[in-house]
Amino acid sequence: MEMPTDQSVLVTGGAGFIGSHLVDALVADNDVVVLDNLSSGRREWVDDRATLIAADLHNAQAVDQAVDGVDYIFHEAANVSVEHSVDAPVESHETNVDATLRLLEHARNEDARFIYASSAAVYGTPESIPIDESDPKQPTSPYGLEKHSADEYCRLYHEIYGVETIALRYFNVYGPRQRGGQYSGVIDIFLDQARREEDLTIHGDGKQTRDFVHVDDVVTANCLAATHGVPGEAYNIGTGSSITIKDLAQLVVDTFETNSSVTHIDARDGDIEQSCPSIRKAQRELGFEPTQSLNSKLEALW
Ligand code: UD1
Repeated sequence: MEMPTDQSVLVTGGAGFIGSHLVDALVADNDVVVLDNLSSGRREWVDDRATLIAADLHNAQAVDQAVDGVDYIFHEAANVSVEHSVDAPVESHETNVDATLRLLEHARNEDARFIYASSAAVYGTPESIPIDESDPKQPTSPYGLEKHSADEYCRLYHEIYGVETIALRYFNVYGPRQRGGQYSGVIDIFLDQARREEDLTIHGDGKQTRDFVHVDDVVTANCLAATHGVPGEAYNIGTGSSITIKDLAQLVVDTFETNSSVTHIDARDGDIEQSCPSIRKAQRELGFEPTQSLNSKLEALW
C-alpha cells in the first residue's frame, strides 16, 4: 500500500483507541505529532518516536503548536459515545463540532490535507439497506447530528476554500485498546462481561444491526485517504456486512463458553436500528478492502 512518507503529520486523539493504532502505522516514516487530552487515551499507547502534546482540543495554544507546519491532519479526537451525547449534548457538540471547525481553519491556513473520523451515525434511520454515501441523513442522536455537521463542514471547506478534506464514515470499529468503561463499544463491554461471567446486557430487543470493522482496516483506510480519494468526498468504512446485537451476544457466549447468559435491558435513547453500509465507493476510489473477520478477531481479543 502506498503510505505517506517524510510528511509532517498531526493525529488528534493519537493516544486513543483508533488514533494510537494510526500513529503506529505512520510513525516510522513520518514526523508525527499527537494531540490528546488523555481522557480515554493512554500515554503508553503513543509510540516513543511521536511527539505527544497532552492537551485538550479547546486549548488554543496547544492546538497552534500541534498544527504548526503540518501536511496532514488526521482528526480522531472526539466524544465517541452516542449515549454520552444524549447525557451531555452541549459538551459533546463543543468537542465534536466546534473544535473540528477550528481545526479545519488550521488546515486551511497550513494548506494541510484533513482526514476526518466521521461516522455511520450521520445516517440515523436509513430508508434503504445497504446505505450509500448519498442516502438521506436523518441522525437520531446529538452525536449523529454533530458528526453530520462536521462531515458537512469538511465538504464545504473543500468547496469554498479548496482544503483537501476526506470524511471517513466509520461503522462500528473494534479491536485492541478499545476501552471506555460505561461509554465503551459493545464488543469491549460484552467481552468484559463474559470474562467476569456476568450476563451480557442487550439494550432493547437486540434486533438492531451493526457492521463491525477491525481497527487495522480503519488504519488502512486512513492511510489510503492520505494519498487516494476525491477531496471533498465522504466514504463509508466498514466490512459491508452486519450482524444483530443479539447474534453478537450469542457469538460471544458460544465462542468463549462462558457461564454468562444474555439479558435484555432498556433500549438506548438515540440508538440506530439498522446499520449496514455499501463500501463500493471506498473500494473504487480509495482502493479499500477490509481484511479482518469478526470471528477470527474476537478470539484474538479474548
Ligand atoms: C458506535 C461508536 C461510535 C461510532 C458509531 C458508528 C462507540 C462507543 N461508539 O456507536 O463512535 O461513530 O458506532 O456506527 O464505539 N449495546 C448493547 N449493550 C451494551 C452496549 C451496547 O446492547 O452493553 C448496543 C447498543 O444499544 C447499540 C449497539 O450495541 O445498539 C452498539 O452500541 P455501541 O457499541 O455503543 O456503538 P454505537 O452506538 O453503534
